[in-house]
Amino acid sequence: MIRKKTKTIYPVFDRIMNKQNKEELLNQRAKVFWFTGLSGSGKTTLGIAVERELFKRGFLTQILDGDNIRSGINVNLSFTEKDRVENIRRIAEVTKLFLNCGVITINCFISPTKEARDIAKRIIGKENLIEIYVNTPLYVCEQRDVKGLYKRARTGELKNFTGISSPFDEPVNPDIIVHTNEQSIDESVDIIIKFVLNKIKF
Ligand code: ADX
Repeated sequence: MIRKKTKTIYPVFDRIMNKQNKEELLNQRAKVFWFTGLSGSGKTTLGIAVERELFKRGFLTQILDGDNIRSGINVNLSFTEKDRVENIRRIAEVTKLFLNCGVITINCFISPTKEARDIAKRIIGKENLIEIYVNTPLYVCEQRDVKGLYKRARTGELKNFTGISSPFDEPVNPDIIVHTNEQSIDESVDIIIKFVLNKIKF
């Protein structure tokens, strides 16, 4: 009797396939691997390598990073502290949609402040988020200067640049720390894969 009543009030709940259904279909548990670290620290490089490794093992993933998100959904956001928090908040909401669909996401964002990272954890749920700190010293990122942005930040042409004129709070108790100046990409990927595998196996 009660069941019948519930059905009439919320008929849609009986029709929507839930996260569990989709995880079963994909034979994986949906989690987000959240890479945080300075620009040029190696977040996206590692994210891509982790994705390839997981793809080989049959896991479905989606990479979200500054380039694909900031050129689309977040194109209207700058690099002020306020906009960076909004950047991360929207990314967390998008991530939640992927997770509800059973898909593992690999997020590569500077995510420079504790405030922003805490918002992401609150939206996504701490139990679904594996925080990976790509701990590459500033001087190494600056030497690499893959995009030439550090040089422009030093001359003052680029304002609010993380590590130069905008803060980066070290993550407190991240799940994994990798040191890309001391470890090879393969070594870092190995550490990450070992940590995440039993969390995403169904
Ligand atoms: S976050 O701080 O809001 O998390 P996000 O990861 O989306 O940053 O974007 C960082 C990328 O934007 C950098 O890798 C770099 O290529 C580019 N960028 C442009 N301006 C800045 C800036 N002022 N500070 C940091 N990164 C910048």
